[in-house]
Amino acid sequence: MHVNRRELLASAAMSASAAAALAAPDFSAVRRDFPRARTAAYFDNASCHPLSVHTAAALHRYVDWATNEVGDPWWPSWTNPRSEAKNLFAKLINAKPNEIAFARSTIEAESNLLNGMDIQSSGGNVVTNDLHYTAAIHNYKMRQQAGLDVRVVKHRDWQIDMRDMERAVNNKTRLIAVALVSNVNGYLQPIKQISELAHAHGAYVYADIIQCAGAIPIDVKAMGIDFAACSTYKWLMGCKGFGFVYMREDLQIKVVKPTHDHGGVQYNYAPWTMRPDPNREEIIAGHGDGPARYEVSYPAYEGAICALESLKYIHRLGVNNIRAHARSLTDRLHKELPALGCPSITPKDNESPIVAFAVKDPKKVMEDMKKADVWVAMRFGNKMRIAPSVYNSHQDVDRLLAALA
Ligand SMILES: Cc1ncc(COP(=O)(O)O)c(C=O)c1O
Repeated sequence: MHVNRRELLASAAMSASAAAALAAPDFSAVRRDFPRARTAAYFDNASCHPLSVHTAAALHRYVDWATNEVGDPWWPSWTNPRSEAKNLFAKLINAKPNEIAFARSTIEAESNLLNGMDIQSSGGNVVTNDLHYTAAIHNYKMRQQAGLDVRVVKHRDWQIDMRDMERAVNNKTRLIAVALVSNVNGYLQPIKQISELAHAHGAYVYADIIQCAGAIPIDVKAMGIDFAACSTYKWLMGCKGFGFVYMREDLQIKVVKPTHDHGGVQYNYAPWTMRPDPNREEIIAGHGDGPARYEVSYPAYEGAICALESLKYIHRLGVNNIRAHARSLTDRLHKELPALGCPSITPKDNESPIVAFAVKDPKKVMEDMKKADVWVAMRFGNKMRIAPSVYNSHQDVDRLLAALA
């Protein structure tokens, strides 16, 4: 069902007060914030999370402005929300605001990090594992073909054995890169052990946090994460093409060189300047300050506006409450799906909102799900991924189980 703009704004205003009052959130009220939940049992949040009415209304306000009022070239009225979004994201992962830059994509951010660390020319190696996202592995594969020493540890029974990671790491390891939560089965990597291993060898840790930021508590300091990145279109309930990079303050510039810059240049010769300075070079490159040095051009205002609204919403609900809600649904799925002949490939007691199961007949399962308007993802042949979020209910789970039975 589609909602028109007026409906959206009215619904946003009405449920804003409901959401604000949620010390212990009422998740049935939360459900009303997500029009997608009205008809479908949508469990594909690990692919793309729907927008809430609050975020959609904020985006509409921006579109109105861009349509009817655009004029001031620097758009100051939208600059503050962008900084506020950075602050709220920093708070979400226990980082400082000056450790956060905007990004366009998780995969691009990881690639930029590798370029900035220039691991290859220093003769170093990178260790990762096959529960990292396949596009990231593709990036490593290309770099491997160009000569970078990349070690991809294989999972055992859909989890990582630290002894395998230990065997892959040596004193030339510069980076261990993992998806903190796997998109395949929701596996939460043993990040503290990984960071201790990395730091004991003088290496750093990168965590792709797109499948967990907003869904489970993340404390980059306590977890020993040095770099992280995510887009906002999954558990941050925002849109594509916009995200955040976390870069530990003391590693900026010293360990990771900016590989591009949003600053311009100054021409130090006529006719560009009336008084060229003979003691300076002809083209003087400027650079931004702090983490903005890792940003390119003007990061999308649309993305930041959605991120700000969604981050406010997530903070209001509380990540612990969000996790507990999803947990009640994933615990049930974990119990009931194996009884229907679908063994789990997600470890038990795993702290993420993503669970995956092996099904016998993936084609038929997807046809049945479609008929029932139940949305799950089928990946890697027969691995069915179910990823409930804040608006999903036990009735949604009933519907999924009925479709499967
Ligand atoms: C673990 C993981 N990393 C990265 C991505 C891609 O992120 P982006 O589109 O921000 O590059 C995905 C998308 O599904 C993912 O699941």
